[in-house]
Amino acid sequence: MAENPRHPFLQGLSKHRGAPPTVVVIFGASGDLTARKLIPAVYNLGVDGLLPADFFLVGFGRKPIPDDEFRTMARDAIQEFSRRELHPESWARISAGTSYVAGGYDDKAAFDRLAQHIAKIEGKINREVQTLFYISTPPSVFAPIIENLGACGLAGRYLRHAHHTKVIIEKPFGRDLDSALALNTAIRRVFEEHQVYRIDHYLGKETVQDLLVQRFSNAIFEPLWNRNFISSVQITVAEEVGVGTRGGYYEQSGCLRDMIQNHTMQLVALTAMEPPGSYDAEAIRDEKVKVLKAIQPLNVMPGGDVARAQYIAGMIGGKPVPGYLAESGIAPTSATETYAAIRLSINNWRWEGVPFYLRSGKRMARRVSEIAINFKRPPGTLFAESGGFNLAANTLSFQIQPDEGLSLILNTKIPGLETRTQPVKMSFRYATTFGSNTPEAYERLVLDAMIGDGTLFIRGDEAETSWKLYTPVLEAWATAGRDGLDQYVAGSWGPAVGDTLLSRQGNVWRQP
Ligand code: BG6
Repeated sequence: MAENPRHPFLQGLSKHRGAPPTVVVIFGASGDLTARKLIPAVYNLGVDGLLPADFFLVGFGRKPIPDDEFRTMARDAIQEFSRRELHPESWARISAGTSYVAGGYDDKAAFDRLAQHIAKIEGKINREVQTLFYISTPPSVFAPIIENLGACGLAGRYLRHAHHTKVIIEKPFGRDLDSALALNTAIRRVFEEHQVYRIDHYLGKETVQDLLVQRFSNAIFEPLWNRNFISSVQITVAEEVGVGTRGGYYEQSGCLRDMIQNHTMQLVALTAMEPPGSYDAEAIRDEKVKVLKAIQPLNVMPGGDVARAQYIAGMIGGKPVPGYLAESGIAPTSATETYAAIRLSINNWRWEGVPFYLRSGKRMARRVSEIAINFKRPPGTLFAESGGFNLAANTLSFQIQPDEGLSLILNTKIPGLETRTQPVKMSFRYATTFGSNTPEAYERLVLDAMIGDGTLFIRGDEAETSWKLYTPVLEAWATAGRDGLDQYVAGSWGPAVGDTLLSRQGNVWRQP
């Protein structure tokens, strides 16, 4: 395409990663995620020349929307949310194949109409198309959608071909172990596991994928990546935003379900897993599940492995913000945690004795996600004798967002006639080296699902293993209510209980 402003690192990608003729059907087509992320992702794949020539987008939802109006909604979404401006020629190509089907998620007749709609598309181009269903609805209708896809024959189309039907399932994948098991059972009644793409958008982030590249393509890391050299690992996923307009959802979720059980645990799995035998979906996911299974059950008692808190009024960016209980849609006595911190112990040869500390919260001091690998302190006697020394432990930190990059803290001699040391930071920044217009996570994930690569998606047993770890915590917190729920001031780095979790082992949170 003439207007393709592709970054040089994307050149040639379409040749190797071509998808067959595809219909993407979005369930929940008038929802927020569709407008903010999914339509802009499809559009940007089109701009990059990564969509197949025969590409069709079908919105499905309860609300009757004429095709034209849906196309206008999609166009507006691109204008408002896409990382690149709307280019009329690129949009025209996608718009020509965009349509809408209205119907209830539990209405089998509506799914029959959808099947006819897809058959009509195939008739028009006189070719078979693969169908990629994107379930982006509230979780209460995941199961009826899946059941109806089975009942109307759409789930099993071309099953033994590369262009078989695929389904992407948005989060939340269950709300505890039992509901995740039930959802997996409903899915397995209709789909084979290789057709299912459970999404965690953190896996689509560039820096999260880079973690694997850094670990396994640089010979200097792997020999040090274990309990002999590493003293602890800290993973922070902090947000400045509060719950905004999502109070209703968040009250049912809380930080543990919303961030820790999924996004943060993906970061744990990629940091802690053994090197896979190959860079393929099953090899990588086998290793992730293996390490998740080696995590010891959490001690949920006070003074144990878990801490939770809720924000109270404070300042963000110099402006006053309300506390959680004063946000809209929040019960005045709510016990929902907006911050959680966890200490994990991984019971295997590589990590025995190395605590993994995780924390996540809304309304924290700064939006930052990072993985910090803290190495053991050097025996400091050599430089202690020359006086004025300030030896730091080496820390390797992966900055997931913002300012994506990598940094390493090293001890260095301060220039001068004495031997005095100072920690310095060596940094690599994506934006400086590669430019800042990197693809959004959803672009990568939609493309991967279209071409049938499940590496960056969660396998059923992986979701279950993570819920198995956290369900006892959720149950203990539900029983305790507000007892033991700490508070933190909005705009701070979190509550005292989060600090105590580390200080009991002589550690402190790193200031990201
Ligand atoms: C979502 C959560 O999964 O991730 C939100 O539901 C959260 O509460 C968001 O704000 C964070 O994603 P990102 O990509 O902005 O770090």
